[in-house]
Amino acid sequence: MAIDTATTRVARLRAEIERHNRLYYELDEPAIPDAEYDQLFRELQSLETQYPELLTLDSPTQRVGGAPLKYFAEVQHRTPMLSLNNAFSEEEVRAFDSRVREALGVVEVEYAVELKFDGLAINLRYRDGVFVQGTTRGDGSTGEDVTENLRTVRPLPLRLHDGAVGDLPADVEVRGEVLMFNRDFDQLNAQQRANGDKEFVNPRNAAAGSLRQLDSRITADRHLSFFAYGVGLCEGLALPRQHDGQMALLQQWGFPVALQRRVVSGVDGLLDYYREMGEQRAALPFAIDGVVYKVNDMALQQRLGFVARAPRFAIAHKFPAEEAMTILLDIDVQVGRTGALTPVARLAPVFVGGVTVTNATLHNEDEIRRKDVRIGDTVIVRRAGDVIPEVARVVLERRPADAREFVMPTRCPVCGSHVARADDEAAWRCTGGLFCPAQRKQALLHFAGRRAMNIDGLGDKLVEQLVDANRVNTPADLYELGMSALLSLERMGEKSALNLLDAIAHSKHTTLARFIFALGIRNVGEATARDMARHFGSLDKLLAADVARLQQVHDVGPVVAQSMVDFFAEAHNRDVIEQLRRSGVVWDEHEAQPDSILPFTGKIFVLTGTLAALSRQQAKERLEALGAKVSGSVSKKTDYVVAGLESGSKLERAQQLGIAVLSEDEFLSLIEG
Ligand code: IVH
Repeated sequence: MAIDTATTRVARLRAEIERHNRLYYELDEPAIPDAEYDQLFRELQSLETQYPELLTLDSPTQRVGGAPLKYFAEVQHRTPMLSLNNAFSEEEVRAFDSRVREALGVVEVEYAVELKFDGLAINLRYRDGVFVQGTTRGDGSTGEDVTENLRTVRPLPLRLHDGAVGDLPADVEVRGEVLMFNRDFDQLNAQQRANGDKEFVNPRNAAAGSLRQLDSRITADRHLSFFAYGVGLCEGLALPRQHDGQMALLQQWGFPVALQRRVVSGVDGLLDYYREMGEQRAALPFAIDGVVYKVNDMALQQRLGFVARAPRFAIAHKFPAEEAMTILLDIDVQVGRTGALTPVARLAPVFVGGVTVTNATLHNEDEIRRKDVRIGDTVIVRRAGDVIPEVARVVLERRPADAREFVMPTRCPVCGSHVARADDEAAWRCTGGLFCPAQRKQALLHFAGRRAMNIDGLGDKLVEQLVDANRVNTPADLYELGMSALLSLERMGEKSALNLLDAIAHSKHTTLARFIFALGIRNVGEATARDMARHFGSLDKLLAADVARLQQVHDVGPVVAQSMVDFFAEAHNRDVIEQLRRSGVVWDEHEAQPDSILPFTGKIFVLTGTLAALSRQQAKERLEALGAKVSGSVSKKTDYVVAGLESGSKLERAQQLGIAVLSEDEFLSLIEG
């Protein structure tokens, strides 16, 4: 290859690799598989070996780490790295806003609001646009020089991009947070397990452990990430006078900046942002422990100044901790709808993720062994978002001498049937089927669920009583219930009984998709049920289908197909279906619709804001019936975003990514047309 061809190719490869780094670490949307990324990387490496004159310090190939250090040098920060005061409640946020308004003598303040990343604070120094030094926060005045390790952090620019921005500062400090994405953390721990090494307890510890490696080649393997959140000292360039302008500049220089930043007015803007990010938190690909509010105007920031070691112009509003420590008092075994035995930890009550938790799942026997959980242990309980609380790990240092190992029962704790475990499964299952009252109760609750037959008011307490009193054994029995049977139950008044009978009668008019889902066939979720209904159009056709025929349905593989065939082969399941039909359960049958002819097959929609004519659920069902998929988050794969009233960040994201946005009217005419 001629040198000028090589020069062009090298430049193109570098730009391409940096672009993929950004897609992966900032936008969370990897565009190519890891193997392809590695291929680009190797091609660049080999060109640089062939033409050493093309190698530069800021090439992505220089992110692989170098010879190990003996120790980290200490570095005195030129401006101290301070911390933030915390607010844990709305009152504390209101008090912060009042203090700011009073000090400035204004009625309303403009704030820049952003995520509080749960990683490690880092200071990066660039001279004439080139990365020269990176340090940890340390005690705030002196940190450790981790430059070589930071060079390996892929999304961190080794040279500031000056393209459209004009002059670069002669000397600038950029502040931000090094962290590890959840998926990289999971991969790292899987690797640690495979090597028999100790696992990291959370992404922050993994990031800290990885950054403080004397051997930067290890850091290079760990896939760390970085988000910038501010500028420290800056010489040789006048910075924008507002915090959000500075963030935009950082982004133009090539730093990853979280997309969720905003500018809001007044305390209500702060609290709305807190709520919104609280909802998004669990879906983010990295950990945050709160949000940060900063007075946007830099001159006002300066006027407010600092108290002790924290600024007066900013505050962190923390989310409730997702992890807490407590004692595991006992382990019970619960039996689920499909007979799976789930060990459940009974805990000394503990406040975590904003609620008091007394039970947490231990998933299955293998997980108990893997985490080495024993009765009497002190454990860390985790409750993230709406996820069921789980025992994350044991605090081994606190294990009492009499801690007991858990033994899986050999018989179902509810019906006494023996338990079995398939070779390829983690769960032990009760073999009692619908003979087992626990499975029966769960099957009924599933049948009555909102997304199945939607029988309002039929909750656990009622199902429990109906099954225990032998009033209801199968879903079909629900439709035989009369007033007197209901009135004989505890705490059941005439009015509630009437309401329940009404809800049961109401549920008879359903859809084929809901009916199939309600049957509770193993491996058949809502989406599969919907695909089945659409594909076959009628229940009789579905009942007659064999494994091969079932597999013609979109996304249905051999496991799901076999589950369905097994379910319909059972005489008692067929009987229940017949009884249900005889009791008047009906739906519209239609001609089978092969997957490809639906108008929105393969299209991905995201719904945001409030629609006037339909609920979210109704809009979702309408779209799905037309073949569309409805997703919870906007990515570049999204085809349409439907924006109702008060659409927030999803709408913004769609606009950033150039995705078609539909108003409610446009949406309605699209689905109706
Ligand atoms: S600003 C003078 N912004 O939180 C204020 N800090 O408790 C400097 N952090 O040490 C910090 N996300 O490591 C700021 N968006 C954000 C942040 C953030 C995370 C960390 C940072 C700092 C700690 C303060």
